[in-house]
Amino acid sequence: MIVDLIFQVEENKLIASSTYEMTLKTEKLPPIKAGQFAEVKIPSREDLILRRPFCVYSVDSEKNSIKIGYALRGKGTKELSALKVGDEVQVLLPLGNGFPAVEKGKKILLAGGGVGVLPLLSVAESYLDNEVYCCLGFKDKNLVMKADEFKRLCKKAVFATDDGSFGEKGFVAEVLERHMDDIKPDVIFACGPEPMLKSLKKFSAVPTYVSLEQRMGCGIGACLVCACKIKKADGEHNLRVCKDGPVFLFDEVFYG
Ligand SMILES: Cc1cc2nc3c(=O)[nH]c(=O)nc-3n(C[C@H](O)[C@H](O)[C@H](O)COP(=O)(O)OP(=O)(O)OC[C@H]3O[C@@H](n4cnc5c(N)ncnc54)[C@H](O)[C@@H]3O)c2cc1C
Ligand code: FES
Repeated sequence: MIVDLIFQVEENKLIASSTYEMTLKTEKLPPIKAGQFAEVKIPSREDLILRRPFCVYSVDSEKNSIKIGYALRGKGTKELSALKVGDEVQVLLPLGNGFPAVEKGKKILLAGGGVGVLPLLSVAESYLDNEVYCCLGFKDKNLVMKADEFKRLCKKAVFATDDGSFGEKGFVAEVLERHMDDIKPDVIFACGPEPMLKSLKKFSAVPTYVSLEQRMGCGIGACLVCACKIKKADGEHNLRVCKDGPVFLFDEVFYG
């Protein structure tokens, strides 16, 4: 059930260059699945009418708290970075379908880039009984985030940076190519910038699911701002990233 709740800021801290993690606490959280997201109202800025979407990548249902992470982009994320402990934020959640369920025994590979690694952390936390691998790419070592958590949760965690300052040098798909024979995944879950997602084409013989980022309005399927062309067996459809996604099969998105 989608609910619009008031949260209090418990913590708002820098976790990588220009990237923050905010812990938010409320009275009673609804169930939230890996890959689902929230629409956050930017407090005290009536001019920023549209809420901003962020993935909920950590949920503590006993404490009724969630974590979101955000890279500084524009006015909304700048306002969020100035929030202090105890400030109130209005949040609509859980939105979207999240990542599909994976059977026990299947090997999961997480491929992420930049702040897009965050929703993949919630997948790793949800599949403690599966073998989970990850290959995560960042521009440089200053942008690396959650490396220890991924190392703890994954059977093998591979890091890639464009300049080789952390992990292996190269883009995610290049680095992954060197490890694919060892991993032999049954399914790939990916999130990150579009060029990174597209570069996974060479692995798409393995069922690959991508989480898309799209400009959003309502977040609940009503305004069609987030419409995106998706190819199904019966042809092309304009689907809503917020309600029908944000996770789609690679082949349904990048078919051109
Ligand atoms: C389902 C979903 C989940 C997301 N999860 C995260 C997350 O966990 N962490 C995170 O840092 N970001 C995430 N994003 C992107 C995030 O919503 C935008 O970065 C944020 O809304 C920018 O707000 P702003 O007011 O700071 O920027 P604005 O001033 O609105 O815009 C600044 C720049 O950011 C770009 N931008 C704005 N909104 C989006 C958007 N929705 N998608 C892509 N580019 C955008 C604009 O094109 C512009 O160039 C997610 C987006 C979607 C759709
Ligand atoms: S954001 Fe309104 S339909 Fe998706």
